Amino acid sequence: MNNFSSDSNFTVLGIETTCDETAASVVTLYKDGKTKLHSNIIHSQYKEHSKYGGIVPEIAARSHLNNISFIVSKAIEASDNDVNSIDAVAVSCGPGLIGGLLVGSLFGKAYALSKKIPFIPINHLEAHVLSPRLFEKIDFPYLALLVSGGHTQLLYVEDFGKIRRIGTTLDDSVGEAFDKASIILGLGWPGGKNIEIAAKMGNPDSFSLPRPMINRNNADFSLSGLKTALFRLAQKQNLTREVKSDLAASFQFAVADILEDRCKNGLSSAREINSVCKNFVVAGGVAANKVIRQRLKDLSNNKNFNIYYPPIEICTDNAAMIAWNGIEKIMKYGIKNVDNSEFEPRTRWPLDPDAQPIRNAKEAR
Ligand code: KG4
Ligand code: ZN
Repeated sequence: MNNFSSDSNFTVLGIETTCDETAASVVTLYKDGKTKLHSNIIHSQYKEHSKYGGIVPEIAARSHLNNISFIVSKAIEASDNDVNSIDAVAVSCGPGLIGGLLVGSLFGKAYALSKKIPFIPINHLEAHVLSPRLFEKIDFPYLALLVSGGHTQLLYVEDFGKIRRIGTTLDDSVGEAFDKASIILGLGWPGGKNIEIAAKMGNPDSFSLPRPMINRNNADFSLSGLKTALFRLAQKQNLTREVKSDLAASFQFAVADILEDRCKNGLSSAREINSVCKNFVVAGGVAANKVIRQRLKDLSNNKNFNIYYPPIEICTDNAAMIAWNGIEKIMKYGIKNVDNSEFEPRTRWPLDPDAQPIRNAKEAR
């Protein structure tokens, strides 16, 4: 049940192609505020990129092109919805890699045109930040920690479309740090999930790693020093299975410490902005990590915040969150006002355009 009620039901087809997942989903918001995730189809390209140790944009674009039609058809079929019951198409139009963005947005525009329904461009980052609202009633304002492969930010979400950045990474994102750590330990790519699995068998106290920015009087992050320290440490070790697990566990523990410390300041800032702010949302691929989920849950309990996560499968890239963001737009502006088929995809699309440019991690702040 959500906080919405309206005169009619709304069913939206969501499409996601910003990075290395081709995804489509059908979501309905019913008149009484109940929501239904009818289908959530994801084709991950990780096998196509894994031998390169990172995403190859040209391969990603071609793979989106090959798969999009099939994935969208599958999402509609699996939803038990007639194509004619879809009220709008919401497409992730940035930030991301231009090849995928062009495939997704052109496909979505053509679909919307052929069905005479609105095309709704969606900011992928906003979709992550709003994603738990598909499943639970979460009131604004809230603090959001967005931890994905491309971004690490603390955001004050005052209302729909009103987001202020209060912290960001000065170098790598947390997801990137996990991916690089996994490559350093020979655990493959993409790394977050592999590190989490290896860490289960390891001792988090076995190696000492730095916690950059910890105890600084702000809500910014820095991860590159931790990654470099892990690299140097790993070079000196005989990387047996046990040692890899211990290094993975020590790395994950250091990341959890960093996130806890930075979010502590973020929660205080949110309360300074609005003393009644009581909700904390954690979203993006890294939010799938169970150790980090537990650590931030404990922190919010201590600070008297309610914490919300999307379900694990909605943490990493998916189209359910894109369809849901489309529904949020319809509820805000009305179905007659959301069509924007002129919209051109954006490789950069900051959530808070007024945020100061990122400075160097070494500067005193
Ligand atoms: O949100 P996402 O799917 O893509 C972007 O929008 O960037 O996030 C992907 C990132 C990757 O860096 C991946 O390593 C990380 O999320 N990730 C995890 C876990 N699952 C995915 N990091 C830590 N633990 C996990 N279980
Ligand atoms: Zn994402």
